[in-house]
Amino acid sequence: MAGVRTIKITGQDIHQYLDKLAALRIEVFRHFPYLYDGSQAYEKKYLQTYAKANGSAIILATEQEEVVGASTCIPLSEETSALKQSFKNTAYNMDEIMFFGESVLKETYRGRGIGVEFFRQREGHARQLEKKYATFCAVQRTSNHPLRPAGYQSLHNFWKKRGYTPLPQVSTQMEWKDVDQSEESSKTLNFWIKKLV
Ligand SMILES: CC(C)(COP(=O)(O)OP(=O)(O)OC[C@H]1O[C@@H](n2cnc3c(N)ncnc32)[C@H](O)[C@@H]1OP(=O)(O)O)[C@@H](O)C(=O)NCCC(=O)NCCS
Repeated sequence: MAGVRTIKITGQDIHQYLDKLAALRIEVFRHFPYLYDGSQAYEKKYLQTYAKANGSAIILATEQEEVVGASTCIPLSEETSALKQSFKNTAYNMDEIMFFGESVLKETYRGRGIGVEFFRQREGHARQLEKKYATFCAVQRTSNHPLRPAGYQSLHNFWKKRGYTPLPQVSTQMEWKDVDQSEESSKTLNFWIKKLV
């Protein structure tokens, strides 16, 4: 991680980084499995949730003045009703859960432990807020998806190594336009969870 620093941003300070986070999301999520044909309009709506929330944080990876990666977290209770709905019929208490949004890192900075550091710092933040669980969701794509790159390796083993397990009965739907489509379509995102205490 030589030259790259990670810092945690919370509260009102988050606002000044939202444009950079949006740009990173649009750049990184264009690729499989997200295939997100990002728009500033969608980004603005999405990131408002983080900007307004109590307890949200962004972990930034920076090199000199450039933001090269970012990762977000927010108490689940501050998330959209659609996301919260996913946990409605589970035994989990929503107030005890920290939701991890994205981890996005420019391609040339991968494989140096920054993704591990994003998890470490977000879990630390969740523990500070006395959350008992951390959760996140990931898009589900078919194994024969036409845009799946040859030799693509999912992040499942990376997440398992960080102590997360799939929550098979919990999922949510999100809409966005894929890079190879002309209209938005609905995707299923599956949840993973880890007990923090
Ligand atoms: C997810 C993402 C942020 C992970 O970032 P990363 O920095 O490449 O991940 P890390 O380097 O921390 O960890 C990857 C592996 O490299 C290993 N690693 C750690 N330090 C290392 C080093 N100095 N050199 C080489 N490998 C290293 C880690 O141990 C890990 O291996 P493991 O899974 O076997 O434990 C990055 O892949 C990404 O932006 N992907 C696209 C967006 C995405 O899909 N995000 C997730 C959903 S929101």
